[in-house]
Amino acid sequence: MPAVSKTTQFPKSDRVTASEISDGIYRISGFVESYGITFNQFLIVDEQPMLIHTGPIGMYKQIEERVKEIVPLEKLSYVAFLHFEADEWGGMEFLQSKDVQLVCSDLSSKLNLAGWYDIPVNHVSFWDNETMKTGKRKFRFMMTPHVHHWDSMMVYEESTKSLFTSDLFIQPRINTPVISQDLSQQMIELYRAVGIFASEGPVRQTTKRLLDLHPSMVYPMHGSCIDNGLFQNYASAIMNQSFAYSGRLLGQKLETVT
Ligand SMILES: [Fe+2]
Ligand SMILES: [Fe+2]
Repeated sequence: MPAVSKTTQFPKSDRVTASEISDGIYRISGFVESYGITFNQFLIVDEQPMLIHTGPIGMYKQIEERVKEIVPLEKLSYVAFLHFEADEWGGMEFLQSKDVQLVCSDLSSKLNLAGWYDIPVNHVSFWDNETMKTGKRKFRFMMTPHVHHWDSMMVYEESTKSLFTSDLFIQPRINTPVISQDLSQQMIELYRAVGIFASEGPVRQTTKRLLDLHPSMVYPMHGSCIDNGLFQNYASAIMNQSFAYSGRLLGQKLETVT
């Protein structure tokens, strides 16, 4: 019998809840104790509803239940993932919904959706600054290379000034759906411990660009949403503190790095 890999422990949550953050934008979130963070999906209701992230496979069923309470699965038009990673689109069963289309960056498409066995090819990809309408809403796609991954992108919904930043501006533990405290120091410490950014440069370049958008709400994939008042604090922590990888991965020191 093959040995069970240490890596086959999928993030799971006891409770996945949905809350409407602003008109028609829902945060579907579950806290995963072993990781110490929430995993958040965002369902954006429109003529063609879009789900941003599917969540990891271990949380898929609960996320699906919450989605169905808001939008029938067969009405879901798009599922977007912002970089190629299991928590972004591990719950791929959403793609079996009739007519649903996968949305990703051009780099995710070229690097990751070509050449793998049984990966759905029905997808639409975007380059920097390209836009897509889903009815009343207009999404702008922003390439943010090396903000965590080579193929990373972010999404900005222009009519409500809603910014979906994936793994940028994340915070640990579980808090209210929209944060009222400044947890920017905890964010920096989390980045130092987890080691998701190779260097500060590309992250700061992207942060400057995001500040120019003056978003009304920022929707990170882990932690709470951040309104425009507090966003300045989180952005300034990124601009002024060091947080890049320095030998720690998922909280563990890599002894070979000095
Ligand atoms: Fe990620
Ligand atoms: Fe993530």
